[in-house]
Parts: sequence; C-alpha cells; structure tokens
Amino acid sequence: VSSDQTYVPMNDLSRGLARDYDELMAAAASVFRSGYVIRGPHHKKFETSLSELIGVTEAIGLGSGTDALELAMKAAMPKGKSTVLTAANAGGYSSTAARRAGYSVIWADVDPISLCVTADSVAARITDDVGVVVSTHLYGNLTDQTRLVELCRSRGIRLVEDCAQAIGANIEGKMAGTWGDIAAVSFYPTKNLGAVGDGGAVLTSDVELAAQVRQLSQYGWSRKYEVEVGGGVNSRLDEIQAAFLQARLPGLQAANARRRSIVARYVEAAQAQDANVITILPAVGEHHAAHLAVARSPQRARIRELLRGAGVHTDIHFPVPDHFQPGFAQTPGEEVELPETELASREVFSLPCFPEMTESEIDQVCRAISGLR
Ligand SMILES: Cc1ncc(COP(=O)(O)O)c(C=O)c1O
Repeated sequence: VSSDQTYVPMNDLSRGLARDYDELMAAAASVFRSGYVIRGPHHKKFETSLSELIGVTEAIGLGSGTDALELAMKAAMPKGKSTVLTAANAGGYSSTAARRAGYSVIWADVDPISLCVTADSVAARITDDVGVVVSTHLYGNLTDQTRLVELCRSRGIRLVEDCAQAIGANIEGKMAGTWGDIAAVSFYPTKNLGAVGDGGAVLTSDVELAAQVRQLSQYGWSRKYEVEVGGGVNSRLDEIQAAFLQARLPGLQAANARRRSIVARYVEAAQAQDANVITILPAVGEHHAAHLAVARSPQRARIRELLRGAGVHTDIHFPVPDHFQPGFAQTPGEEVELPETELASREVFSLPCFPEMTESEIDQVCRAISGLR
C-alpha cells in the first residue's frame, strides 16, 4: 500500500457518535436530571418504543444480546427438556448462551444460499431432548420462518429468533422477532441499532414468557430479596443506554436502507467477476437488514490480501464453526458433519459496510472488487 492511499475501515464508530453528538448529550442530560440510572423512565419508554416498532407486546431491556439469548432460552425451554438446536456458523453466541443456561447444544447445517438454518436442516437434527430451536437471521437476512414455526409447533419445541444482526428486517411488514415464540436483539455498538456500550433486549408477545424473562433478569426475585425461581441473573439495560437507543431508534430504517444500498453497489461491482474470484451475497429488499456486506471466495486468503493492498479492510464472520470450537466440546466422540457450514466458514469474508461510509470510500471498495483477478 502506498503511503498516500487511504484505508477503508471495517467500521468507524466515531462518525456516528459525532453525527449524533447533540442528541446523545441531550439524552444523557435527561437521564442525569431524572435521578434514575437503572430501570427508570427512560428504560420503560425505550421498551415501549421498541415493542411498538417491532410489533410485539413485550420488550425487556437487558445487559447484552447474549444475556437476551440466555434468558429467552431459559424462559422458553419446556419442562423436562434441556437441549438447544442452533446454527454453528453464527459466531457462537447462541451456543455460549445455551451452555451458560446449563443446556446441551447441537447444531443444524445451513442453507447454502441464505446461510441460515431451514425447517429441513433443523428436522434432520431434532432429538427427543430438543426443547428450543434458535433461528439466527445471519448478516441481517430474515428468511421466511413459516415452515420452521410449523415444524417447531408440531414437535412441542420453542422457536427463539436471534435478531442481533437483523433488527428492522421484515417480510411484508412482519418483523424479525415476531415469528417465533421469543426473540433476542443486541445493541452492541456496531449493530444496526447500536448503544454507546453494551445492551440487548428480549422481544415476545407471550406475557408469561416475558414475565419469566423479567424475573430471571432480576435474580429470580418474586419481590425484593425473595428468590422464587432458580437460574436468575443480574442483567439490565442501563438507563443511559436506553436513552441513547431511544434517540437513535427513529433513524434505524433509513440506516438499514443505506446499508442495503452499499451492499447493492458491491454486488454491481462484482457482477462481471468469476465466482472463483468473488461473489457478493445480495441484500435486496426489506427482509434484509444488511448488517454485514458478505463476500464468498474459494481463494479467500489471496483475495483478502489483494483487497488489503487496495486499501480495503476485511474481516471474517465467522472463521471457526461452533462444532470445531474446543470451548463448546461436550460429547467426546460425537462427530458432527455440517458440510455447508464448514464450506462457508472457509469462504466467507466481510467488506466494510456501515451507514457513515463516504461515497469515495464506497467507490474505493467497488474499484477494488472489480479490479480483482
Ligand atoms: C448473531 C448474534 N447473536 C448474538 C450476539 C450477541 O450480542 P452481544 O454482543 O450484545 O452479547 C451477536 C453480536 O455480538 C450476534 O452477532
């Protein structure tokens, strides 16, 4: 890289913070003036706004997306069952949450195009002990959940949607987070709706599940200092994060559209390329929140090196599938093969995609893509 070449970063949070500076400072001031720092009026207001936006009756602000997954699983797991079935290509968050909840984890393969689990891939792996299936809308891609919902209902299994990367994605207005029994979202700073720190939420229209999540999020208390149920934790969305998120919520759909338009530019730039060099996963339409711009290449290492030479940073989401992670190993000798998951983990990589990218940065990435040989 020549010294005068500018790098396009994978993300740059300082830009959004600078753009939103006045609103965020006003939100912080409002929290300071209120005197409430946890579970106060800003938290309540944000829960209401979020539930209205998504179209559920209940939203519960929590400390992180991983906490949200854990508490959603604990609330949803039917009595007498203790296995979670999830995707192995989605960064390990649902496996972490399941293990933390004390459950076994097994994995289903993904569809080669959507890279998400399907009713068929899930059906192939269901055992009698599976009580929860997690459907991760990976990269922001909300696939039609109808068959998966039917499958889970018919087997007495609860469907948890992992919407961490897909907030705002919808199919004809039916939002990610409204398909299954219960859903988790993350407000990790790089997410489509990002806090200034950690945060997450559970979404559901089942009042009983919501009550269980609320109770579990506060030590399992029935009332102050009385622990009624086991498995409780301390997980809350800070008042100040709730206020920041409230300030950013109105911009979510425009930001998602901007992300989709960036991915569309990359798709166009890669149009004449051989699939042996690079393809870009499309993110066309509102079912896709375009959280990440994801490319595939059988020559990933070489292609990433060329892009780096052209000043384009890339990353891999995610390089090691869950079933190959030593930290998730549980049943010695159990060999599971997930061919599409494993192939994707060798081929996928992510290009810069965040709403604050400049036109010249997008152009630079496009030139780099079309110049690949
Ligand atoms: C698909 C997915 N699920 C869950 C999470 C966990 O969210 P958090 O980092 O807020 O715990 C993330 C992001 O980190 C994610 O990408």
